[in-house]
Amino acid sequence: MHVIAPVADQQTAMRRYYRFHAAIYDATRWTFLFGRNLILRLLSNHPELTLAEVGCGTGRNLRRLAATRPDWLLLGIDVSPEMLRRAGKRLASFSRRLRLFEKPYGAGQFHLPEPTDLVLFSYALTMFNPGWEAAIEQARQDLKPGGRIAVVDFHDTPFAWFRRWMGYNHVRMEQHLLPVLEEHFETKTRIVRKAWGGLWRYFIFIGEKPLFHG
Ligand SMILES: C[S@@+](CC[C@H](N)C(=O)[O-])C[C@H]1O[C@@H](n2cnc3c(N)ncnc32)[C@H](O)[C@@H]1O
Repeated sequence: MHVIAPVADQQTAMRRYYRFHAAIYDATRWTFLFGRNLILRLLSNHPELTLAEVGCGTGRNLRRLAATRPDWLLLGIDVSPEMLRRAGKRLASFSRRLRLFEKPYGAGQFHLPEPTDLVLFSYALTMFNPGWEAAIEQARQDLKPGGRIAVVDFHDTPFAWFRRWMGYNHVRMEQHLLPVLEEHFETKTRIVRKAWGGLWRYFIFIGEKPLFHG
């Protein structure tokens, strides 16, 4: 069962969780946060643009994008000071074209400074509980018409014990994200893949904000 708590509790829970996990994040997460390099590759042939990563964590994705796309302006948003401190160190040499914001995202709490070409959520949205619908809606508002949302995240698992374990780690994996993304954006890329022989599935979604919203 998924328990709904106030949005402020979600932010407090994230700050608390990453106070400890920030220190071991980069050493451990590469073993299970699959699809991150693929989504970066799929995005990186775009022309010059502004990309915002929501829930940028320790800056792992932004670092790669900064190195491969010297013409892009990059923004990183995260609610955890410990994660952002690491991102700040890692990205120090790119500070001329990169800005980090310690802010919660969703429900109009913080809007990107200007309309953006690309909003990336990499293993962030499944931790917005509650708040994932609001964050998707806010990304839609923050994007330029024709701009793109890119999401890589957990999709589901056939094992109840694993779903429960991930729930203790604040991750919801109930196939809830893809249908809403597909409803609000025009699908450009949709990939669902097994991880660890089928222990869980993850997905990649890239969608375009319609030029006219009906
Ligand atoms: C699993 S980490 C992903 C980090 C990075 N995107 C990556 O792929 O390695 C999830 C991040 O989302 C952030 N986060 C969770 N809820 C948030 C919210 N409401 N607003 C902004 N950031 C949030 C967490 O603090 C954490 O750094």
